[in-house]
Amino acid sequence: MDRSWTPSRWRDLPAEQQPEWPDPHVLDQTLKSLSALPPLVFAGEARSLQRALAEVAAGEAFLLQAGDCAESFHDFTADSIRDKLKVILQMAVVLTYGAGVPVVKLGRIAGQFAKPRSSATEFVDGQWLPSFRGHVVNDDEPTLAGRTPDPTRMLTAYHQSASTLNLLRAFTKGGFADLSQVHTWNQQFVAGSPGGQHYDALAAEIDRALRFMRACGINLGGEASLQQVDFWTSHEGLILSYEEAMTRRDSLTGDWYDTSAHLVWVGERTRHPGGAHVDFLSGLSNPVAAKIGPDATPADVVGLCAALDPDRTPGRLTLITRLGAGRAPAILPGLLAAVRDAGHPVVWACDPMHGNTFTGQGGRKTRHFDHVLAEIREFFAVCRAAGAWPGGVHVELTGDNVTECLGGADEVLENQLELRYTTTCDPRLNASQSLDLAFHVADLLRGH
Ligand code: PEP
Ligand code: CO
Repeated sequence: MDRSWTPSRWRDLPAEQQPEWPDPHVLDQTLKSLSALPPLVFAGEARSLQRALAEVAAGEAFLLQAGDCAESFHDFTADSIRDKLKVILQMAVVLTYGAGVPVVKLGRIAGQFAKPRSSATEFVDGQWLPSFRGHVVNDDEPTLAGRTPDPTRMLTAYHQSASTLNLLRAFTKGGFADLSQVHTWNQQFVAGSPGGQHYDALAAEIDRALRFMRACGINLGGEASLQQVDFWTSHEGLILSYEEAMTRRDSLTGDWYDTSAHLVWVGERTRHPGGAHVDFLSGLSNPVAAKIGPDATPADVVGLCAALDPDRTPGRLTLITRLGAGRAPAILPGLLAAVRDAGHPVVWACDPMHGNTFTGQGGRKTRHFDHVLAEIREFFAVCRAAGAWPGGVHVELTGDNVTECLGGADEVLENQLELRYTTTCDPRLNASQSLDLAFHVADLLRGH
């Protein structure tokens, strides 16, 4: 770690994607309040996640990173948090049971409120407006008042993150995530779908295995690993003043931790070494990640590794490729080889969502399940050919019965996109598409 680093050093560097806050005084007051609020996560937890990711880097575990594209201030209920957790737990069980590999469960949740935009303004209903940048910055409502950045939203985001995390901790440690509950995670609207039925059969096998162990005299009640799960949080570290205010020195080690989440990542638009975002992440002791798009060269990625993982620490850095279906065979081998030759023990994960977005006939942004699956297949094939471990997947999903992505075994058709399209940003897999995907990934992990 560079000892001259401070949480505010990014302010001297070019910082992309930062909102133009209208009132510096309100901004100042808000940041002061934020920096006095309790941390959301603790340094020791971030270190535990890094150890878990080190196992992924070593090829001994698999990373499932999943959640909303953008969490919403308008959709904030216990039910929606529970249902998102349910689908992630279901996917994890499918992967663990189906492939026999431990799964590191990392939510895009409890802080995923900021969105990078390709353009600072957009033309809606006959007028130019500031683009929607996520509820931590402005509202999605297309009015000038709604779209004007409001720094006090950072406090709302903090409090919503705290409540979300509180509920996640209760659910994952308080009995809900107990393996004997595996049937109850299948939601009613999913149960009838092919993925849901497949899941029910798998849950019945798990029940039978648990009954067998009990009958053999094994005291399952004493096994914490069957009753509780470790569930970690992550988001894109985009709004640097928010992340700076949440960054604190760990009293045990003296190291800096961003206490807004266990892991933060830099996006495809802000991953330049020498830029403010990479500099900010470079000084944190949390595990960190970076998105890698199709234009990244091997030299770019090695530069990023040098900035974010100078000590070559297993689990410190996750590289999330988002190339688009059809592109990995030409692009990924060079990246894998360059990072391997530079000696960085990174986790390689595949985001099959962001390279596969297109606008459907009705003008809705969407993604097709087949493209998502194709990109994951290519990721596995290229990693395997290069002798690298295909370490994880990164997906945008919701526990709700939405119609935002096309396809899946319980097929969503183009003319159904209008039915339940509720995302505030990118289209998400619904619960049955997510389960379907998990079964396919489990097959790939088994080597089929
Ligand atoms: C995202 O993860 O929502 C995102 C914007 O991704 P990327 O930076 O890969 O475009
Ligand atoms: Co997205």
